[in-house]
Amino acid sequence: MTVSIPHGGELVNCINFSLNISNIGAEIKIDDTALSDLELIANGAYSPLKGFLKSTDYLSVVETMHLSSGLAWSIPVTLPVDESTVKKLEVGKQAKLVYNGVTYGVIDVEEIYEPDKEKEAQNVYRTTDDKHPGVAKVYSRGNYYVAGEITQVKEVTRPKFDQYYLTPLETREQFQQKGWKTVVGFQTRNPVHRAHEYIQKCALEIVDGLFLNPLVGETKSDDIPSEVRMECYETILEHYYPKERVFLSVFSAAMRYAGPREAIFHAIVRKNFGCTHFIVGRDHAGVGSYYGTYDAQKIFSEFEEGELGITPLFFEHSFYCKKCENMASAKTCPHSSEHHVILSGTKVREMLRNGVQPSKEFSRPEVVEILMRSYQESVN
Ligand code: ADX
Repeated sequence: MTVSIPHGGELVNCINFSLNISNIGAEIKIDDTALSDLELIANGAYSPLKGFLKSTDYLSVVETMHLSSGLAWSIPVTLPVDESTVKKLEVGKQAKLVYNGVTYGVIDVEEIYEPDKEKEAQNVYRTTDDKHPGVAKVYSRGNYYVAGEITQVKEVTRPKFDQYYLTPLETREQFQQKGWKTVVGFQTRNPVHRAHEYIQKCALEIVDGLFLNPLVGETKSDDIPSEVRMECYETILEHYYPKERVFLSVFSAAMRYAGPREAIFHAIVRKNFGCTHFIVGRDHAGVGSYYGTYDAQKIFSEFEEGELGITPLFFEHSFYCKKCENMASAKTCPHSSEHHVILSGTKVREMLRNGVQPSKEFSRPEVVEILMRSYQESVN
């Protein structure tokens, strides 16, 4: 049995596909982010949350990184709506949560409040700059937050890689069946490269299993699409990973790009999926130069020992070193940077656009082939 206990003690389950919703008149149109949040609250990935945050919890999370119960929680999970929607809602009643004309959930409208978005941006994202994609998203969504418990009433089905959408109950069952007592979780929004592989395998050396959990919810427009990233993972797993030690499923949340705060959120959610350990490398969930390279590691020391209930595994910036003829990091390699193969995400995208292949020291050739093909297809 995995020894990972869900955040708050128990996995939340707010799914009821047979709920009668025919007498609910009010409707809230939800976006991609809210749909994925609805699903992740309902299936327990966001345990202990049972709904979108009320103002007391919201303020407490924004100001202290804790829910008002005192439990650690770093990202406000909210349901923003515009003024015209507010006029149609009544506190104390229910509303349907509708995405593209389909009702996926119901919310008990317990409260509607006006957030201080600048304060949210400053505290959660450490900037109020609207060029930050996470901040831009906060600013662009509705100016009122609807709060209350939710029920998911319809399954969200996906046209692609539907089989990789697992609930925390299902991933926990998988880990148990495999006899894994310790499992390390890996969050990613980028195509897998050798530094990823290196830190994953270093981590796997000290635990029973590796849980690869790429984020496939909304990302910024220049990030590589999730179906391409998933194909890369399927291929690299086939060629370079031990099957009995690795499990792949997706994380359907939207990317917030909140760096340090999102690293805490990512760790807590992976605990709910059954992980005992979580990888945090360089600039985790960062974007541009908003965060220091290791800020997302430093933030873990702001919590009490054992408070998060999952052990972070920190990795320094990793790369291939031509002198070592090996993967290494600043911690393990004595050679100067001219011997290191390092490419930024932006540089890789530029190379792919120009039909230039990143070297095999940077990325496995099987992965490069998929990336090249998808780039060529997207320009033709
Ligand atoms: S993230 O936004 O999901 O963090 P990415 O997919 O690039 O982006 O990273 C996934 C994980 O690998 C994160 O923990 C990140 O810190 C780590 N990571 C990415 N590249 C490196 C690297 N070269 N060295 C060390 N850690 C890395």
